[in-house]
Amino acid sequence: MTDLAQELERLRGEATLRLAEAIDADAVETLRHDLLGRSGRLTMLMKQLASVRADARPAVGRLANEVRTGIEAAIGERLGAVRGADLEARLAGEAIDMSAPGRPMRVGHLHPVLTTLRDLREIFHAYGFEVFEGPEIETEEYNFELLNIPPDHPARDLWDTLYVAEPGSVEAGHARPAEDGTILRTHTSPVQVRAMQALDAPIRVLTPGRCFRHDAVDASHAFEFFQVEGLVVDRDTSLADLKGLLEEVARALYGRDVATRFRPGYYPFTEPSVAFDIGCLVCGGSGCAACKRTGWMTILGAGMIHPTVLRAGGFDPAEYQGYAFGMGPDRMTMLRHGIGDIRLFFSADLRFVTQFAEGR
Ligand code: PHE
Repeated sequence: MTDLAQELERLRGEATLRLAEAIDADAVETLRHDLLGRSGRLTMLMKQLASVRADARPAVGRLANEVRTGIEAAIGERLGAVRGADLEARLAGEAIDMSAPGRPMRVGHLHPVLTTLRDLREIFHAYGFEVFEGPEIETEEYNFELLNIPPDHPARDLWDTLYVAEPGSVEAGHARPAEDGTILRTHTSPVQVRAMQALDAPIRVLTPGRCFRHDAVDASHAFEFFQVEGLVVDRDTSLADLKGLLEEVARALYGRDVATRFRPGYYPFTEPSVAFDIGCLVCGGSGCAACKRTGWMTILGAGMIHPTVLRAGGFDPAEYQGYAFGMGPDRMTMLRHGIGDIRLFFSADLRFVTQFAEGR
């Protein structure tokens, strides 16, 4: 064997080894350049063919070609393999694990007073009541006059009203109530008249909404609070209907065993008027600080609609009667959860609000 033939064989072996070590396409290309490039090692060996003895030249020439095509084929094969591996590695690196658990999202929930409002709506819905809403910015006419509370009536002292100022009067330094009588409603009762004016009998509506009073704020008074008004107008309604309905509602809200009682009350827009109490939920009726030692808690005011109010709503009191009631969902929510301070509802303190996350 000639020296050249030996070198060709060695190069073939070395090429096979180095190819196996080339781990990516760049390494294979470098190797190709080293072996087959213009001054590559195989290229150089091929150039020596001319100086081989004539009788040995055909055999060595054949061997050189064989080595060359072998190396070329091996390079092509290796390139395919490392490219495939590259792709697989990239795919694996960029893969999305569809089974990985998601990041938890913070989900909000209803304010506890809104939960009470929804429960009330649901309970009254079963008795045929639908929701009818009125404006929070009212007129003195609807808030007072049409409810049988004339301007000089002492009953007005019951509500410390927040008046909307006459335009310009604040800037001028002597704020006075707007001449058009615009106020923030002090109760939801003005919606009684609005509902009667808008609807035909029989009427069964529930009016939830925000009310405002110029009250000194303490643990049981806020200047902003909710009320839910109920109104029924029909030909044959009576105080007995009102009592039966409210007792059922109290049982739905506080359980079948809740004690209830009606007391005489006074409102200018109902006659007769009543206050509706339930047995104290804190002490069970024996008397405690929450019920001021009476064993009872007042949850709403109610009565038969005053004839003057029926007329204001467009109904003839000789033909139609009705009843109305107004309750305080803030206080009802406090009773439900044993909350001692109404200011917490408006504090926007998440430590308080998030305690009511479970449920709905
Ligand atoms: N509007 C009354 C209040 O704010 C409650 C009430 C409503 C009383 C309906 C009787 C009838 O205290």
